[in-house]
Amino acid sequence: MSSSTITPWVVGNWKLNPMRADALQLIEEFKALLQQQSISPEHCHIGVAPTAIALTEVKAQLDDANRKIYTVAQDVSRIAGTGAYTGEVSAELLKDSQIEFVLIGHSERRELFGDNVEILKAKLQNALSAGLTVIYCIGESLEQREQGAAEQVVLQQICDIAAVVKAEQWQNIVVAYEPIWAIGTGKTASPADVQAMHAKIREGLKQITAFGADMAILYGGSVKAENAVELAACPDINGALVGGASLNAESFYQIAKAFAQSK
Ligand code: 13P
Repeated sequence: MSSSTITPWVVGNWKLNPMRADALQLIEEFKALLQQQSISPEHCHIGVAPTAIALTEVKAQLDDANRKIYTVAQDVSRIAGTGAYTGEVSAELLKDSQIEFVLIGHSERRELFGDNVEILKAKLQNALSAGLTVIYCIGESLEQREQGAAEQVVLQQICDIAAVVKAEQWQNIVVAYEPIWAIGTGKTASPADVQAMHAKIREGLKQITAFGADMAILYGGSVKAENAVELAACPDINGALVGGASLNAESFYQIAKAFAQSK
């Protein structure tokens, strides 16, 4: 159980928020907090995932911070390269714009936009081949949890992608466990439940890849400044994927600080 040597990740998933002026202000406020009291990149990686249209502008703004803050795409096309694919943004195009990270498999994409296993595999393959680091999201629904199937569902979501990930590419994957019933609901899974699930995920990863012991496993689902310290204290919770609370600079800063101080 060397998982506590993993540098934690705190990533803000802005989803379809905010409008441009508010986004720019949010970043300025966050950078100002880091100016007052910095958080060392050795203690916590920080990322922000804005809307597709804001990626390059947000990146330019983040690159100007007093420490590395990664810009993360919220999604990527299942189509590789360039071509006659109206409306798509490929992994190569992200890479070409110096966007090095991407979320794949968020439950909102799976549930609302038809991202099934085949589509997710194509997205993952394209992203990894283009040299991006993938934050792969998994998580069960309330119904699945109530049926006692949570663990099976989550482990299956990892197995789903195993066939398309090359051995050395596992080191470019971060896993985010986001139980659907805890997203945007204010209902956080208890730290003990999250830790137990993360330990199972880690066991599953270790069986699939030699990098399993060193992969970061993030938790997402109503993470706030108020519950971050307790979550961060768990050995297999290596960071957070934060929705709502990442839209407030102070909250997001406090969450990053909680994880930075915990390890
Ligand atoms: P909330 O933090 O708003 O629950 O969202 C979690 C999430 O979906 C992050 O990807």
